[in-house]
Amino acid sequence: MDGSVRINPYLDGNFAPVRSEDDFDLTVVGEVPDALAGTLYRTGPNPQFDPRDGNHHWFAGDGMVHAFQVDGGKVRYRNRYVRTPKWLAENAAGKALFGTFGNPMTTDPDFIGKDSGVANTNIVFHAGKLLALEEAHSPFEMDAATLDSKGYLDFGGKFTAHPKFDPVTGEMVFFSYSTGVMPFSNTVSYGVADASGKLTRRQDFEAPYCSMIHDFMVTRGHVLFPVLPLTGSMQRAMQGLPPFAWEPEKPAMVGVMARDADVSTMRWFTAPACYVFHPMNAWEERGKIHADVMRYDTAPLFPLADGSPGRKSAAYLTRWVFDLNSDSDVIHEEQSDDLAGEFPRFDERFAMGAYRHGWIGGQSRRPGDIRTDSLAHLDLKTGARTTWVLPEGDYVSEPVFTPRSATADEGDGWITAVAYRGENDRSELLVFEAQDIAAGPIATALMPRRVPFGFHGNWVNAA
Ligand SMILES: [Fe+2]
Repeated sequence: MDGSVRINPYLDGNFAPVRSEDDFDLTVVGEVPDALAGTLYRTGPNPQFDPRDGNHHWFAGDGMVHAFQVDGGKVRYRNRYVRTPKWLAENAAGKALFGTFGNPMTTDPDFIGKDSGVANTNIVFHAGKLLALEEAHSPFEMDAATLDSKGYLDFGGKFTAHPKFDPVTGEMVFFSYSTGVMPFSNTVSYGVADASGKLTRRQDFEAPYCSMIHDFMVTRGHVLFPVLPLTGSMQRAMQGLPPFAWEPEKPAMVGVMARDADVSTMRWFTAPACYVFHPMNAWEERGKIHADVMRYDTAPLFPLADGSPGRKSAAYLTRWVFDLNSDSDVIHEEQSDDLAGEFPRFDERFAMGAYRHGWIGGQSRRPGDIRTDSLAHLDLKTGARTTWVLPEGDYVSEPVFTPRSATADEGDGWITAVAYRGENDRSELLVFEAQDIAAGPIATALMPRRVPFGFHGNWVNAA
């Protein structure tokens, strides 16, 4: 292996990494509201070196955090790599050492089985700490001001990129999958940390099969674990077949239990095979759990078990209903909106309860394209949707909501997102009035270079 690869789509265009760590004062066009004060943190994969695998996957690149600090109408930008043990080892070697997802078939023999965490998927703030997250490893703490890497935190083992934050108790509720000694095990772990960041609970249970569980749902009273047929298999990996693959002959299953119950009380609901990367929110009404999810007919981005390419699929906002008082374990499914998209977000002060306003990144031109070319506001009470579509060749990141004040009504505030402009190969921070997305941004902060397509971001208030 000499580190060289054929051009991979995830190393091309605005998927390609940027390899500089910079600090920029951005030029603002329009007016950033004075009351908007804080930082939009975003993260995504950004391989430090050219990957060893010809079949490098987007999800496998080293994490890089991008911070847009907003204060007094001005915007400053800073980006830093997450200096994980993998990043440090490869930096010292001056080349990639790990295969995709730590695949032993393509990892340097001296590094097989060593920590391959990339902390590239989400960046969240809990108990005063900024945490870079990836679903197979522990949270990695970054300094919120400098973005200096501080190191892994211990929450009793592997973690998720999508913990849920209880707006009432301040708890961080989380899970991890394929925990245990053997890779690709069926074991799932449920955990809770209190508002101070102290681990208060962690308990393992066996899922029906090994699934890539990217995200989960939490209501005021219950926790829901989606086990969907994007399966993991060590046996496949050792045969040179895909470690993760779409197996549609298996049903979609969702484990439901009371948040404070023992895992032995888990009740499994089922639906025809489907995949969900991201739910929007989940809540309870009169003995039923409702969950709004971005539902795919087949798992996108992953091959079939024999290695053949998977079918293209787009996600649509769909409401799942679980009737806790019924003998039936069938999940009732109903599509709520017909705009294909991803990255559903809402006013997270209303997490785990009934809510009205949601936002998604839309795929207006090419449903199922993993890039989103528009932003949409969805009024879930009236069904009304308003959309802002970028010009051809431009794309926009996940929409992140920030309330106008701590006591503002639900959905009253701003959306921030990062756009990529194809024409000049640069990026911009965009600020929108949250319920007037269609009017376009009220402020745009211009970058002197691009920010690669990434995954998730969150706003942290200056206070
Ligand atoms: Fe995600």
